Amino acid sequence: MELETLSPNPEKGAETPQPKKVFVKTYGCQMNVYDSQRMTDALAADGYAETNVIEDADLVLLNTCHIREKAAEKVYSELGRIRELKNEKAAEGREMLIGVAGCVAQAEGREIIRRAPAVDLVIGPQTYHRLPDVLARVRNGGRVVETEYALEDKFEHLPQPKRAQVAKRGVAAFLTVQEGCDKFCTFCVVPYTRGSEVSRPVAQILAEAERLAEAGVREVTLLGQNVNAWHGEGPDGAEWGLGRLLYRLAEIPGIARLRYTTSHPRDMDDELIAAHRDLPTLMPYLHLPVQSGSDRILKAMNRRHKAEDYLRLIERVRAARSDIAMSGDFIVGFPGETDADFEDTMRLVREVGYASAFSFKYSPRPGTPGAEMDDHVPEQLKDERLHTLQALLVEQQQAFTASMVGRTMTTLIEKPGRQAGQKVGRSPWLQPVIVDEKVGEIGDIIEVRITRPGFNSLYAEPI
Ligand code: SAH
Ligand code: SF4
Ligand code: F3S
Repeated sequence: MELETLSPNPEKGAETPQPKKVFVKTYGCQMNVYDSQRMTDALAADGYAETNVIEDADLVLLNTCHIREKAAEKVYSELGRIRELKNEKAAEGREMLIGVAGCVAQAEGREIIRRAPAVDLVIGPQTYHRLPDVLARVRNGGRVVETEYALEDKFEHLPQPKRAQVAKRGVAAFLTVQEGCDKFCTFCVVPYTRGSEVSRPVAQILAEAERLAEAGVREVTLLGQNVNAWHGEGPDGAEWGLGRLLYRLAEIPGIARLRYTTSHPRDMDDELIAAHRDLPTLMPYLHLPVQSGSDRILKAMNRRHKAEDYLRLIERVRAARSDIAMSGDFIVGFPGETDADFEDTMRLVREVGYASAFSFKYSPRPGTPGAEMDDHVPEQLKDERLHTLQALLVEQQQAFTASMVGRTMTTLIEKPGRQAGQKVGRSPWLQPVIVDEKVGEIGDIIEVRITRPGFNSLYAEPI
């Protein structure tokens, strides 16, 4: 249902029922961003309009992340605040339902209801298509925990967004093609919260991409916890990998830019690398987490490759596409990490030269093998290492940004700028590009020259 058709019509006055409103707050990775949109779509079909104002909401959904302890604990403090709001509304005679979705929901299930009595429903990532049904059960009295792994494919059952809704979300869109993980890195909760690796079928992905393109989307980012492990049967009957899928998606009229994230070094095959060589549509930016530069730690993490394999892989990718920018994820302070191991990570970072990167202190997660290991690194040492690593990564990122000045590049104009008189676009390397508001229309891809670096952004003029 579209928002406009739901708003009270002044001419009809009281005859038009007020739509219920849902407020969704998203934590964690892009897959959660995508899932939140799909939940909103499912709820729109159930009569809920989306609101950005939590006080107006009849239903508050927290789409949560369990990856590190801090992320998971944030949810409980947020639930404490929302509980007060719920009580205030109850005093006015208005109901506010509270739901917890996402990876904390999956990992903690019933425990959430115990710890946070204001929560009405808990729903795991594999069962979002059952959300309307879960809400109906809640309204019939009772709190519902729905975290069984669904046997059916949630994507097949989730309604597609209306064209106006896609357009409202902008000219760059996410599209989940793969979910779950079978790799079981010893630090990571994802295999437990998202289940085993599942690839969406080719036809479903193409149909969704075409629908996005028809609604004006110009840039599509394919998502997966291990996006390059995606595989499926193509219309030609052959087994396709992500590379082949990208070639096909590049043929869709209107789609001018493709990206994918997050990839695992072990799943970068020849065809995917070739796609970087052959497809101008595939943006020259690769997020390829390595976590550590020490073979000993990589082994303990069960990453199943050596630092050298990663470096050679990047050489092959750069040979295919010389201007590709690298991004990565790092964990410092994994159990047993010595100064020498950490120095190996620093060396790897210096050798690769990252355009951007995310780095974290190791956070022991309940139920993962890492949490049971000996030799946990003291918090203070983790802090020091993180600080040292981040200083290097920031230096590299700034050097990368500075190297853009004077260059010409394409920019996808995405939205009005935060400051009046500006529009914001995106460079092929994911940097926000600030131009004058008179430059191009939203959705245009234009040639610009970079005039000066901003803080995590670039200023540019049209050519
Ligand atoms: N599938 C991706 C990573 C998904 S999780 C991959 O294999 O690379 C996103 C990032 O969170 C990871 O790359 C890792 O750097 C970080 N992370 C995951 N578990 C963590 C933990 N227990 N403590 C600290 N960081 C963690
Ligand atoms: Fe987690 Fe490893 Fe799977 Fe990435 S590959 S989601 S880090 S278990
Ligand atoms: Fe967090 Fe789940 Fe994504 S744990 S990082 S929201 S897959």
